[in-house]
Amino acid sequence: MAARPLVILGGGGHSREIVGIVHDINHGAPAFDLVGVLADDYWDETILDALGAPRIGAVADLAGMEVDYVIAIGDGRARRELDRFATDAGREAASLVHPSATIGLRVTYGPGFVAFPGVRVTTGVRFGRHVHLNLNATVSHDCVVDSYATLSPGAALAGRVTVGACSTLGLHAAVVPGATVGADVTVGAGAVVLRDVAAGTTVAGVPARPISATPGPQSPNS
Ligand SMILES: CC(C)(COP(=O)(O)OP(=O)(O)OC[C@H]1O[C@@H](n2cnc3c(N)ncnc32)[C@H](O)[C@@H]1OP(=O)(O)O)[C@@H](O)C(=O)NCCC(=O)NCCS
Repeated sequence: MAARPLVILGGGGHSREIVGIVHDINHGAPAFDLVGVLADDYWDETILDALGAPRIGAVADLAGMEVDYVIAIGDGRARRELDRFATDAGREAASLVHPSATIGLRVTYGPGFVAFPGVRVTTGVRFGRHVHLNLNATVSHDCVVDSYATLSPGAALAGRVTVGACSTLGLHAAVVPGATVGADVTVGAGAVVLRDVAAGTTVAGVPARPISATPGPQSPNS
């Protein structure tokens, strides 16, 4: 089958990591023809050129291109905005699963799903649109992870956990079995979530407790 033309939206650190995932996926049989990066801010032309993923335009240029796309931006709310734009423009999102990630039986994911190296997903898990699972994140049986959620490196969901839309779990955050993390939640790095977390809150610590009512935006470069 012919490799599908693909552009990456966003030119920061998250984008460069996703360029690496595309290269690794293509290592055996080429699945994607990486056309380049579309970015409005935060790109380093020299690095992107060296990675074989030159910046070829602004994000708005996607509307006129016959390509698939992946959103390489760490912030879930930013991914939601770009998903709406790209969908309205009639573009299809690709999903990327690194060859070292394992995705178990009866797992479903929406368009734009990205599984970084070392990700482990067991069984009976449902992911919405544009969910990103960063390095070594683990998701156990029967979890439901809504659209635009982000698991940072090493984050771990036990069985039957629910994560709401646009929520972010920080580095090595953990959620115990059956807990619900609402939408638009930020869970701090290293937190252990023992109880349900209300939508729109930021929690941190062990056990995780609210530290702020408003989740702060991630760096656009992340
Ligand atoms: C939780 C988090 C979002 C809070 O950020 P913030 O709103 O800017 O909060 P502040 O840095 O102002 O800290 C507020 C308080 O919470 C504490 N705190 C912040 N993050 C914490 C964490 N992860 N664990 C425990 N306490 C934390 C601070 O020490 C501070 O306490 P103090 O008021 O007693 O001094 C952030 O610290 C964090 O952990 N982000 C995750 C980063 C990450 O994993 N990114 C992934 C990159 S791939």
